[in-house]
This record gives sequence, C-alpha cells and structure tokens, in this order.
Amino acid sequence: MCAARQIPSFDLKRNYARVEDEIREAVERVLSSQCFIMGAEVSEFEREAGAYLEAPHAVAVASGTDALLLALMAAGVGPGDEVITTPFTFFATAGCIDRLGARPVFVDVSPETYNMSMEGTLRAITPRTRAVIPVHIFGQLCCLEEIAPELSRRGIALIEDCAQSFGAHRLYGGRIMRSGAWGRLGCFSFFPTKNLGAYGDAGMVTCRDHSDAERISRLRTHGAASAYVHEETGINSRLDALQAAILRVRLRHVETWIEERREASRRYSLMLAERALLGLAAPPAEEKHGRHTYHQYVVRARDRDRLQRFMSERGIVTRVYYPLALHLQPCFSSAGYKKGDMPVAEMLTDEVLALPMFPEITADEQEFVVSAISDFYSGPGASDHP
Ligand SMILES: Cc1ncc(COP(=O)(O)O)c(C=O)c1O
Repeated sequence: MCAARQIPSFDLKRNYARVEDEIREAVERVLSSQCFIMGAEVSEFEREAGAYLEAPHAVAVASGTDALLLALMAAGVGPGDEVITTPFTFFATAGCIDRLGARPVFVDVSPETYNMSMEGTLRAITPRTRAVIPVHIFGQLCCLEEIAPELSRRGIALIEDCAQSFGAHRLYGGRIMRSGAWGRLGCFSFFPTKNLGAYGDAGMVTCRDHSDAERISRLRTHGAASAYVHEETGINSRLDALQAAILRVRLRHVETWIEERREASRRYSLMLAERALLGLAAPPAEEKHGRHTYHQYVVRARDRDRLQRFMSERGIVTRVYYPLALHLQPCFSSAGYKKGDMPVAEMLTDEVLALPMFPEITADEQEFVVSAISDFYSGPGASDHP
C-alpha cells in the first residue's frame, strides 16, 4: 500500500531551496578559482567556524570519523591503551579507537539523557586509560564539568565527540560553554544531515592548544611539516574547497536552523503531552542549563518496531538510532562484553525511535506524525502491548 502523504525523516531539498542562490555563488567562486583542495576557502571556514564555536583553534578535515581518528592520534593513543566511551553512539566513535590498536572501554548511559554516565566514567578509569570520548548524543551536551577537572589532573585526554552537537552549549560557572570547549579536543562531523551539513563528507577538530592544532594539521596531510617532508606518518584528510565554501554559506544560517529545530521539538513535546502519549512515547530529559540542538528528536516508544511499521504504512519515515549497542558489535566480540553488560544502552536500542526532524518541518506535518502515534496506541491490539 502506498500512503498518500509522505513525511521524510529529514528533507535536504527543502533546506537547499532556502540557500540555493548563495550556494551556487559559492560553488561558482571555487570553480572560477580552480583551487579544489584546502586553500583560502578552507582556512576562512576554519576561522569562521572556530569563531562561532569560540574555539582557540579549528582544523578542518575530511569527515567526522577522521576528526576522531586524528584527535586520538594527536593524544598519542595506541596499542595497549584504553579509551573510555559510550556504547550508545554511531560506530565511528569506537571504531577509531579500535583502528589505532587501543581498547574501547564502554560505560553505560543515563536513562534520562542517553548520554554516558559521568560517575561510571570515573569508575572505569585504570592506569591504562589514555583518553575519554563522551558523545553529546542527539545534540545535548554531557555534564562534562563532573569529569573534566579529574581527567585533566590525571593527564587523561578528554576528546568530545561533537558530531551531533554543533551549536549546543551549557551554562557553567556563569559562562556559556560550547560543544567542543570542555576538553582538549572537539570532533565535529558535517555529514549532510547534521545540523551544519556539507554537501558531501567533511569534519573538523577544535583544540585549545596551538601544539595540538599544529600536529593535527600535519597529520591530516600525511604528517608533512612542509611540502614532501614527513615528520611522521599521517593520513590524507584534507577538506575540499567546494565543501568549505558550501559550509561557509550554511554556517551563516545555522543559528536560525538550530532555533527552528528547537521550536519543532517543543511542538512535538507539546503535542505528545496534549494527547497523553508521554507514558508511551517520551523524549529524553532536556537539561535546564543548556541548549539542546535537536539533531534528532527521539522517543522511547513502547512496542517500537510495530509502531515504526504502522507509521511507515502512513508514509512517515522514522529511524532507529541505534539498533545495536557498540559493546555487542561482532567486531568487538574479543573484548568479552556480553548482553546485559550495558542494560540502559541495550534497553534504548530496543525502544528508541527518531521522529522526522528538520528545520523546515511544519506543525501540520508534526500533527500528522503525532496523530499516527496516537492512533497506533489507541487502535486494536494496543492492549497487547507489554
Ligand atoms: C556520534 C557520531 N560520531 C562520529 C560520526 C562520524 O562522522 P562522519 O560520518 O562525518 O564520518 C557521526 C556521524 O555520522 C556521529 O553521529
């Protein structure tokens, strides 16, 4: 059956229509220059994005995955080291640790925010711990004030995975602390569907220290300090000038888009509350002293898989982030984790459902989404739900 109405989980075309003229002009500028790799567009983007994030240094790279890999390399992570992270994230977070021969050590997440437990993180530290990678999941920052001073005292690198949290912040000590500003290194992804998305792969590392910025700049060009002189072995993670030019345009609008996402999230929460659905499909808690950027609006839904199928039959696309916790991924089986080790993350993988979320989603579309949820729970068979 083909539903008459279609509501996508994100809609890049609608977003493009709002900036098309500016993007075409930026692309034309790069084509006219015929400078495609790094160059002025990339350094201007680094300057502008760094200023937005209030980061002392910003180094643009080819993807969010590379940002993590390069940050870990700069922190000296290698074989025999342990890196603490969350099991409830995209694979890249732990994949990069494993790729460097280090061991990902997983710490379960909070059932309120789905972010990694800060107490659990402190408990998981051993003499082998070289770094900690908290992930600001779905656009809400972890409470890093609870661990940052202790990590710094012990010489453990705090590397924030900010792939989903561009523009998020938390108030701390009377100051606005932005995503990426809490640790030694902040890793951003500009994958097209992110809050600040490129039109291809792109990423960035922010850092406090000039020496880290210099090292990462070197590592992203095969470790070359100057042309064809390699101080160490790096990787090829240069950013395309086209992506940088596109990102510079989109950066000018990102505040508006974040506020639109926040507005849409408020509407969802209100609509779910008005229909008394929060006991069946509720979002994680939003912390008071911060700005959640709603990269995703996720609910924990009872009978999630059937709900997802029901919504799909009505033309509503929803997504499951993430269906398998990382400690249970086949490639990490040698680490010895088993089902039951991370009960909260495992429960979330069974229950979370990301509703359609993008800056341009209309209240009418959201009504349609929430009505479908309501119909599902009040329809025949609803009483069978556990
Ligand atoms: C939490 C998290 N970490 C890392 C990444 C990797 O970023 P990229 O896809 O740009 O390599 C992503 C993005 O998909 C992500 O969501």
